[in-house]
Amino acid sequence: MTFLHELVRRIECFTALDKVAKPVAGFVGRAVRPRRVRNLLSGTSIGHPLHPMLTDLPIGAWSMSTLLDTVGGAGAEPAADLLVGAGILSAIPAAVTGLNDWSDTIGGETRVGAVHASANVTALGLYLASLVARRSGRRGRGKALGLAGLGVLMVGGYLGGHLSYARAVNVNRTTFEHRPEEWTPVLADAELGEGEHRRVSAGEAAVLLVRDDGQLYALANTCSHAGGPLDEGELLDGCVVCPWHASTFRLTDGSIVRGPASTPQPTYQTRVRDGHIEVRSTG
Ligand code: FES
Repeated sequence: MTFLHELVRRIECFTALDKVAKPVAGFVGRAVRPRRVRNLLSGTSIGHPLHPMLTDLPIGAWSMSTLLDTVGGAGAEPAADLLVGAGILSAIPAAVTGLNDWSDTIGGETRVGAVHASANVTALGLYLASLVARRSGRRGRGKALGLAGLGVLMVGGYLGGHLSYARAVNVNRTTFEHRPEEWTPVLADAELGEGEHRRVSAGEAAVLLVRDDGQLYALANTCSHAGGPLDEGELLDGCVVCPWHASTFRLTDGSIVRGPASTPQPTYQTRVRDGHIEVRSTG
């Protein structure tokens, strides 16, 4: 195990962080509860989490300001200062969307996310100090503060990468499902009454089967957001509400009414043959 793996593992197990992280995550969760706020910050309308896209802006601006500080010479000083300021401004929406995503995490993910956020806030503070130093004519100090900010930012970026690529935070949990493309019997028709829903298996895939107003609907049972079991959720106004973070999907087409999910829920076609409900993936 490399030093970095060991470091992240220790952060994941550092339960003392929970004393601060849990209440803060709870506060953020309450603040983003309104549907429009939730959908906006989660990237629900663009079909992709918003936070990873927004982080490119401060990382790009600040890393380029360091490049200009290092090799740009005196003529590049105004551009370097402009990039420091642009990075500061763009860090704010990146932080807000990150907090939104973080509020849904649990356990080790919450702890790593707390350190990730702390590193990024520290980097933001260093760049703010760098900008102040530059504006007051202390360019050498401003450059040094910027360089320190970039170093801390890399630590934050590493932890953010760990959350995305090692812990799959905000990765579509239905991506690797093998959904049958051929009609597959999943349940005797008589076993699903009006207004009922249940989890069934179609090959290797878990499927949520619903009979609502005489119609049969079938969606992937694993919530695309973080893997919540939709069969344990509530049916409401032609939608299913995930029991974990309240993402709400339309039964008809799996589209998202309310985030934090940003990927629609995969759906299946349904039919009844020889007394059995059959499903096949809509692709
Ligand atoms: S797992 Fe988060 S909303 Fe379903």
